[in-house]
Amino acid sequence: MTRPTKRALVTGITGQDGSYLAEFLLDKGYEVHGLVRRSSTFGTQRIEHLYRDIHEVERPLVLHHGDMADGNGLARLIREIRPDEVYNLAAQSHVRVSFDQPTYTADVTAVGVLRLLEAIRDLQDAAGYQIRFYQASSSEMFGKVAETPQRETTPFHPRSPYGVAKLYAHWITVNYRESYGLHVSCGILFNHESPRRGETFVTRKITRAATRIKLGLQSKLYLGNLDARRDWGFAGDYVEAMWLMLQQDTPDDYVVATDATFSVREFCEQAFGRLGLDYRDFVAIDQRYFRPAEVDLLLGCSDKARGQLGWQPRVSFPELVTLMVDADLELARREQVLRDAGLNSILPLR
Ligand code: NAP
Ligand code: GDD
Repeated sequence: MTRPTKRALVTGITGQDGSYLAEFLLDKGYEVHGLVRRSSTFGTQRIEHLYRDIHEVERPLVLHHGDMADGNGLARLIREIRPDEVYNLAAQSHVRVSFDQPTYTADVTAVGVLRLLEAIRDLQDAAGYQIRFYQASSSEMFGKVAETPQRETTPFHPRSPYGVAKLYAHWITVNYRESYGLHVSCGILFNHESPRRGETFVTRKITRAATRIKLGLQSKLYLGNLDARRDWGFAGDYVEAMWLMLQQDTPDDYVVATDATFSVREFCEQAFGRLGLDYRDFVAIDQRYFRPAEVDLLLGCSDKARGQLGWQPRVSFPELVTLMVDADLELARREQVLRDAGLNSILPLR
């Protein structure tokens, strides 16, 4: 009997990409299952609008407790849900933090993927049930880049415990494809941002600070290396590429990028400029934000994704900065209203 809708399991559904992917899949008519790790506070802000909709318009979104460190729990979920597609977005995803927590990063970001792949392989062996799997690989794997632009064939040279963990996850996924015939694909995604980006990644840190400075809620912004260059795209565009990969008959790996690069300094210029401010009046350097080893330059070549998947990014760099600044200005305005009403105590702790 065929199922009426496709069923997807998204790990990392509470993160930036997970929230956009859940929206995208729900719009395509999928039944979406999300893995959520237990926390003492709610961590579902990015998907609350989707979750609320369930009661209003019957959208099929189901959340399950689980953790990438718990292989038994992951295997049980895979058996119970029997998804058609698994999107593995869960990770300790912060590069700077990975220098402080290398073992944890390896467990969750690297070995966690192996746990999922084993669960999928077991189900395929036991029940002949094929699951398509997407692995969130990263341009951080190129690290000290061997060539520019970076493409699928560029050798890897990771520069952080996070990059090394992602490289293990990438190769174990490729290995399970070659060894066991699993339908598994890796998207080597370059940096992608949005108003839902975590506040400690540099773009969001800048847009949050610039807008708060504009409204007098903050006076300075402390950053590290302003000369690092990244190929920054919009997260909403990139989740479509993930889905397209799993719709192909043959699994494969693809670079997903805008094919343009800008420095952190240029991001500052544009973000503060949008608000009529000069970033040089407000940005100061703090050595704490430098990394033991840096990735100086990332610039992707996404010809393969564009040619074979028919994918292309829609949001340009200036549009992305504008999108993020405008959203954070609205957030800062709300913060200002609460502050003026003497309601600081209900603001999130910073
Ligand atoms: P993110 O916002 O940091 O989200 C990470 C997600 O992983 C969150 O839902 C987080 O849950 C979950 N998670 C962390 N540790 C977990 C654990 N032990 N068990 C289960 N879930 C766990 O990251 P993102 O920007 O959306 O990125 C999504 C994926 O793409 C990540 O794997 C990242 O490494 C990779 N990637 C991102 C980029 C980028 O530029 N954004 C580029 C290339 C690759 P909580 O909400 O509970 O923290
Ligand atoms: N986070 C942060 N904070 N980065 C800073 C700061 C700061 O105060 N000042 C300068 N930077 C520089 C970093 O040194 C880095 O060169 C660059 O800004 C971007 O840093 P992040 O925004 O933290 O992103 P990332 O490139 O290290 O990692 C992101 O992209 C990867 C893909 O290449 C993450 O999303 C990873 O999960 C992802 O795989």
